[in-house]
Amino acid sequence: MTRVAIYAGTFDPLTNGHLDIIVRSAEIFDRVILAVAKSTPKSVTFSVAERLQIARASVKGLKNVEVDSFGGLLIDYVRARKMRILVRGLRAYSDFEYEFQMALTNRKLAPEIETIFMMPKEIHSYVSSSIVREVAALGGNIRDFVPPQALALILKKFKK
Ligand code: COA
Repeated sequence: MTRVAIYAGTFDPLTNGHLDIIVRSAEIFDRVILAVAKSTPKSVTFSVAERLQIARASVKGLKNVEVDSFGGLLIDYVRARKMRILVRGLRAYSDFEYEFQMALTNRKLAPEIETIFMMPKEIHSYVSSSIVREVAALGGNIRDFVPPQALALILKKFKK
């Protein structure tokens, strides 16, 4: 039996914290699908095409990781792909409430789908996509926050 996990998110843009979770998942599961959400309640800086490009560049070299995008409900996407495991990252206690709500809502809507939580390395625990966007937009150095292969793609967006 092939064990496949889906790691979904907005990834606006993908950061080293996300990559840490992807690498951990790729070591445990036979295959990992990095699923970029097309529709999100958040207002995004990067288009879906840009977020996909950044994600693909970031996971290049990880042979068992596939990058895809999805629209609509995450559980519908998981079901359509005939999968049942979702991976989420928990960085700090402050993530818990939001993750708890999402995992239980998804379980109510699709009881067969299980959410598994992983913790990224503590050096990534304070990094978020919005912090990366803010620092980059104001001309700060984001090199330590994003995968090296994604750096130029991210900075391109903020060039005047
Ligand atoms: N490292 C670094 N940052 C991380 C992280 C990690 N390991 N894990 C989460 N984050 C950050 C992200 O950078 C992001 O930061 P920001 O708010 O500053 O931009 C924030 O935590 C949350 O981002 P992410 O993990 O990408 O999740 P999300 O909340 O953007 O994604 C979806 C949520 C897309 C999975 C969810 O909205 C969804 O399933 N949408 C589809 C519609 C649906 O099914 N809705 C019902 C849900 S119950």
